[in-house]
Amino acid sequence: MKAVFGYVLIAMAVVVAYCCDCPKDGTEKYYKHEDCDKFYQCANGEKVVMICPGHLYFNETVNLCDWPENVNCTGRNMPVRNVLVEVK
Ligand SMILES: *[C@@H]1O[C@H](CO)[C@@H](O)[C@H](O)[C@H]1NC(C)=O
Ligand SMILES: *[C@@H]1O[C@H](CO)[C@@H](O)[C@H](O)[C@H]1NC(C)=O
Repeated sequence: MKAVFGYVLIAMAVVVAYCCDCPKDGTEKYYKHEDCDKFYQCANGEKVVMICPGHLYFNETVNLCDWPENVNCTGRNMPVRNVLVEVK
């Protein structure tokens, strides 16, 4: 029984470390999202999903939405957008 309880504690610690990185003092912070054109913004200690405006991608180095040619999307999902519609 003791061993089972230990596993539960470890599992909870992992979930907390993954889900709640936002500073509890409300400090503004940004995290990359699984999708390249989205990011998380910390608001009052909670993660909120934001989407980059236009066709910008989130650049985690500068914590800003940046031009796609500046951003490395490796390991993240490429947004599905029809660029042909955007011809000006
Ligand atoms: C963020 O942008 C800078 C310059 O615009 C670029 O050098 C850097 O590789 C970018 N980082 C990512 C993670 O895309
Ligand atoms: C992009 O990021 C991946 C994973 O972090 C890395 O392996 C790759 O070298 C990077 N590519 C460029 C062009 O920076």
